[in-house]
Amino acid sequence: MQEKIKRIGILTSGGDAPGMNAAVRAVVRTALSSGVECVGIRRGYNGLINGDFVCMDAGSVSHIIEKGGTVLYTARSEEFMTEEGQLKAVATCRLLGLDGVVAIGGDGTFRGALALSRHGIPVIGIPATIDNDIGCSQYTIGFDTACNTAVDAIDMLRDTMQSHERCSLVEVMGRQAGYLALYVGIATGATAVLIPERPVDIERDVVEKIRQARLSGRTHYMVVVAEGAGSAFDIAGQIKASIGLDPRVTVLGHIQRGGSPSSRDRETATRMGYQAVQCLLNGNGNRVVATKDGKVVDIDIEEALAMTKLFPMDRYDVLEAVTSHTH
Ligand code: F6P
Repeated sequence: MQEKIKRIGILTSGGDAPGMNAAVRAVVRTALSSGVECVGIRRGYNGLINGDFVCMDAGSVSHIIEKGGTVLYTARSEEFMTEEGQLKAVATCRLLGLDGVVAIGGDGTFRGALALSRHGIPVIGIPATIDNDIGCSQYTIGFDTACNTAVDAIDMLRDTMQSHERCSLVEVMGRQAGYLALYVGIATGATAVLIPERPVDIERDVVEKIRQARLSGRTHYMVVVAEGAGSAFDIAGQIKASIGLDPRVTVLGHIQRGGSPSSRDRETATRMGYQAVQCLLNGNGNRVVATKDGKVVDIDIEEALAMTKLFPMDRYDVLEAVTSHTH
């Protein structure tokens, strides 16, 4: 018979994402409601290496569901990438009597989770990144909030761009993925969107679109650039050289990672946190929680890391159709 687990650890690692706190809360509350103690590991895998932890009771996660960032702090641990670092982390897990660890973060976090699980510690990963670039999960915690933040910022920029009849270039995050840029571009009615998933031709994808918009009477133009598609400053220079506009560049940067999580992120994070604890309670270590067609599922970590997801290029067709000025 499967031995009952008594204590688990929880950590957040990599870039923070709005909704991480909701996931932490769900893990702690679900564990406690099943009679399992919970230890918060601070500063990602560094916390496991250094024994940096805090005991989590039900009150310790009160009123964090609405907060951005992560109350457990986060880090990208270089030491944990070494065998020596991993052995220190395993020793801390044993010392604390952890029967499992829930690790919230992106791909790097899951690679860390796999390393830990290979050393015999059952680990469950929960996908949280504003980039939405995790192959095994259709949705990652933080994406919706980051989109909303970028949309709010662009709506504000549009007011001033409209008044001055200017061209605006907005660079959004996303690492090597264009999810944020594409979703935000659709939601703001951008003149053009540049994403890494589609080879960029400035003349075709930006200049010509601005020309068409101008011909149809538009006097201001919004161009959304995914950071993985190139530098907004470089593209502004090319626009200036090509059609003589004097674009303004805004790099949204880390404000996209902050702020109170949206209801979608809170709700998804809560369901994922619950599922992560169910995995451990059922003796299923070494899993990654994911969403599939609106449901929360779990997948073997190694399989999860090998998965890729299809970029929703059909949304680019939608964007092209609704922003076209040729009809
Ligand atoms: O992965 C989240 C993310 O915000 C990316 O979109 C971005 O490229 C990167 O992290 C920025 O990392 P840092 O916080 O280390 O500057």
